[in-house]
Parts: sequence; C-alpha cells; structure tokens
Amino acid sequence: MKKVLRAVASVCLAVLLVVVAACGNKAAQTGSSGSTSAGQPSSQTQSEETILIKFPFVTSMASEKGKAAEIFKKLAEERTNGRVKVELYPSSQLFNDEQSLEQLPRNTIQFIAISLTKLVGYDPQFQIVDLPFLFKNEEAVLRFWDGEGGKILGSKLESANMKFLGVWTNGFKHFVSNKKLLKTPEDFKGLKFRTQAGKVLEQQFSALGAGSVTLPFSEVYTALQQGTIDGIENTFVDIYGQNFFEVAKYLTLSNHGRLDYGLITNLTFWNGLPDDIRATLEQVIAEATAQEREIARNLGNQYFEEMKDEFNEIYELTPADIELFKQALQPVYDNFIKEHGDEILNLAIQANQ
Ligand code: LMR
Repeated sequence: MKKVLRAVASVCLAVLLVVVAACGNKAAQTGSSGSTSAGQPSSQTQSEETILIKFPFVTSMASEKGKAAEIFKKLAEERTNGRVKVELYPSSQLFNDEQSLEQLPRNTIQFIAISLTKLVGYDPQFQIVDLPFLFKNEEAVLRFWDGEGGKILGSKLESANMKFLGVWTNGFKHFVSNKKLLKTPEDFKGLKFRTQAGKVLEQQFSALGAGSVTLPFSEVYTALQQGTIDGIENTFVDIYGQNFFEVAKYLTLSNHGRLDYGLITNLTFWNGLPDDIRATLEQVIAEATAQEREIARNLGNQYFEEMKDEFNEIYELTPADIELFKQALQPVYDNFIKEHGDEILNLAIQANQ
C-alpha cells in the first residue's frame, strides 16, 4: 500500500513540476502584466500578446513632454487595438534621466524622451545644442535635427542598442538666479550654476567666470532653495513645471541655448516588433511628434505669462548685451571645434540660413 502511495505521490510531484516549469516559462515571456518581454524576436505566439512599453520621463504630465507622451499612449493603444500598452512614468517617479540611460539599453524600459545634451556619453557632439546663441530660431533647430544633423548624431546610438526616433522640442533656455539679476557677463562671476551634463555647459559658465555642477533635474529645486547653487538655465516650461520661480527670483530672458528631446527606443525591442505593429507605431510617433511641437510652441509662452509676476525682476538681453555674451563665450566654440572639428557645427550654421 505504501508503495502505491509513494508511486502516486511521485507522479503528482512530477506533474506539479511540469506545471510550475510551464508557468515559469510563460511568466518569463509575458512579464507580470501578461505582456511580452520586449526585445524578443517576433513570432506568431508573441504577436498575439500585449506588448508593453514603459516610458519614464523627468517632467510632469503638464509639460509638453507629458502631454505628448499621453497622446502617444492613446494613439498607440487605440491604433493597435490594445496590442500595445503604454505605461507612462512622469516626474522621475520610476527613473531619472541618468538611470533611464542605463535602463533603456537593457530593455527594462522601452521609450525615453531625453534632453539631447544628456546623450553626450554616446557622442560628445550632441552638445552642439549647448553652444551659446547658435540656433537663431526653432525652425533652424528642427532643420538641423530633422535633417543631416539628426541622421548623423542619431545613428551614434545604435552601437549602444538604442534607436533614435526623432526630436521633440521644449524651447530656448533662459538664466535664472537666486542671487541677483544677470544682465552682463560680469554678473556671472563667482556664482555657481547647475548644468544638465557635459563639458560644453561647464565651459560656458567658466568662460563667464562662474562655476558649475551637474545635477539631476529632480534635485535642482532643493539645490536652489538651499543655496548650494546660485543659478540655473532652463526653459519656461521647466521653470514653471518645477516651480523654480519660488526659489530663484531673478529671470534673464536670454534665449541662449536649446533644450530639446531625443525620442529613443531600445533597438532590439524595436526590431523585434511584429512588422504591422512597428509600422503603426511609426505613424503614431509621426503624429505625436507633430502635435508635441505645436504644444511646446504655445506652452512656453503660456507658462511664462502665468509665472512672470512671481519673479522679483526680469531682464531681457538686448542685441548689444548678446554681442558682449558672444564675445565672452567664443572660447566655448573654439574648444568645440578643436575637439570635434566643424562638420556638425557647419550643419547647424547651414540650418540657420
Ligand atoms: C533638465 O535636466 O533640466 C531637463 O533635461 C529636464 C527636461 O527633461 O526637460
């Protein structure tokens, strides 16, 4: 009798092990939410499962990036009849930009829209956006990124398993200080500014006699509040979105550099998508990008109007002021050309024409 019971128990155990192993396999394929773990080659079985896109970013849902991500989510889910599911993680709640750049190549997240200068680690020429007073207007910026400039720089991400899908705009940067109104290059002397990343911004401030420190976006408010930095450079949307006007009361309308985003996905994930899904997403991205740019154009001005009374003083650089800044900042251009040649710079200059 004992023997029979043992035999039955062994059979039950074997069946249980097979079931557990099968469930384990399934879980590995679908993740906890029942979605395909991205990046696997497309196959009939996988194409029937939900494809999950995790999309973290550092700004809030009220930013142009947040609004455009919402449009992308809606269109992607609708147009694929729910085969694609997009999860948005705003306000650095999942990862900050520095962490996202580590996670995207590993495919733990599938989309990012990240400030282009933060891609400096993949090619230092992404810092072209930081050359002071380079682009004369947004049209020039877009001619550069939608043209040869975007093609050359975007391709530099592929060796890191990332695919550049285009550029979402934010706007021109302005200086904000918690110490004093910044009107001339001399006013920067001895102050310390926050930078997003890279040597070009460091050199911009050192050419003005200022120091700098690189900080994640989520730490800037506290740094301004505690006085560990004396100033920042950012766009109207970001200044408003982070309430920087509460802790930095002097705004200089300088339009001295650009802050725009590279919309980037994981290359293996992208290549592994079923063809119909990839084609639909391409279309959705084109539509979301057009809408993003339109939103960004209006939102910057709207947020400036809403916050302008919060500042103690606002100063708009005159053409004569800008000439003084350009002279003081010439070493930043000289260093850029010395280190990277002038190919990318010339493309940007051509985009201005
Ligand atoms: C910053 O760090 O200032 C920006 O990259 C934030 C953003 O995404 O606009």
